Amino acid sequence: MLKINRRTNVPRIRQDKTAGCVERGELLNGGNLFAIHERNTTIARMIVLETERLIFSRLDPDRDSEFILGLVNGPSFLRYIGDKGVRTLADARRYITDGPLKSYETNGYGLYKVELKSNLTPIGMCGLIKRDTLPDADIGFAFLEEYWGAGYAYESAAAVMSYAREKLGIKRVVAITTPDNVASGKLLNKIGLKFDRLIQLTADSPEVKLFTPDCDEASEKDGHGY
Ligand SMILES: CC(C)(COP(=O)(O)OP(=O)(O)OC[C@H]1O[C@@H](n2cnc3c(N)ncnc32)[C@H](O)[C@@H]1OP(=O)(O)O)[C@@H](O)C(=O)NCCC(=O)NCCS
Repeated sequence: MLKINRRTNVPRIRQDKTAGCVERGELLNGGNLFAIHERNTTIARMIVLETERLIFSRLDPDRDSEFILGLVNGPSFLRYIGDKGVRTLADARRYITDGPLKSYETNGYGLYKVELKSNLTPIGMCGLIKRDTLPDADIGFAFLEEYWGAGYAYESAAAVMSYAREKLGIKRVVAITTPDNVASGKLLNKIGLKFDRLIQLTADSPEVKLFTPDCDEASEKDGHGY
């Protein structure tokens, strides 16, 4: 979790003087709720974990609908994840409430908003999903295209895998992608998941690639690891 300054009892969060954004942070509510004081406002958010460059927090329909509206309508999201039918801010609110929020309540985890620690810009989401049709939780991620190629997705996915194992006690996390999603396959390989087999989530849905932590020598030998 966040590093606390022992003297002031205030978490240390890097200040970005250029962006002039974050002035001070403090832990509320026994540690999960983090208040970030900006110039004129105080923002409270449920911080789940942090990495060197990123902060992960629970998605909030009041604050994050606009960001989600943009993210889920990006070309890569539509192509590789699918059309969630989110066209308005009201749709985005519903998406957050019926998806991530419901999952936090039901499973204790879900997809989280990922922000740059330096200036609190939201850049994507990453987290865990529990589907009725898969026995294991699967890792999910999507980032705005302008933030690709900087290692943020890898940093996020690696952190979520550790969080699943160490904080949630989940021993086995898998992943699914469309067969043509090469970028995600590469990333999944880097966090220790290998292409296992093609599966259908429901009888009438298209085949997707299942990535698992089980070693699959055949797919590696074939050079079709992702
Ligand atoms: C999958 C996705 C998240 C990958 O994003 P990404 O930014 O390419 O992934 P990474 O964070 O692993 O970044 C890797 C790249 O950053 C580069 N990089 C730069 N700085 C880096 C750093 N500090 N650490 C690691 N990599 C770094 C790497 O060299 C690599 O570049 P390369 O691909 O040219 O070799 C992105 O393509 C995406 O959002 N796709 C749409 C949604 C989607 O498909 N989701 C998955 C559904 S299952």
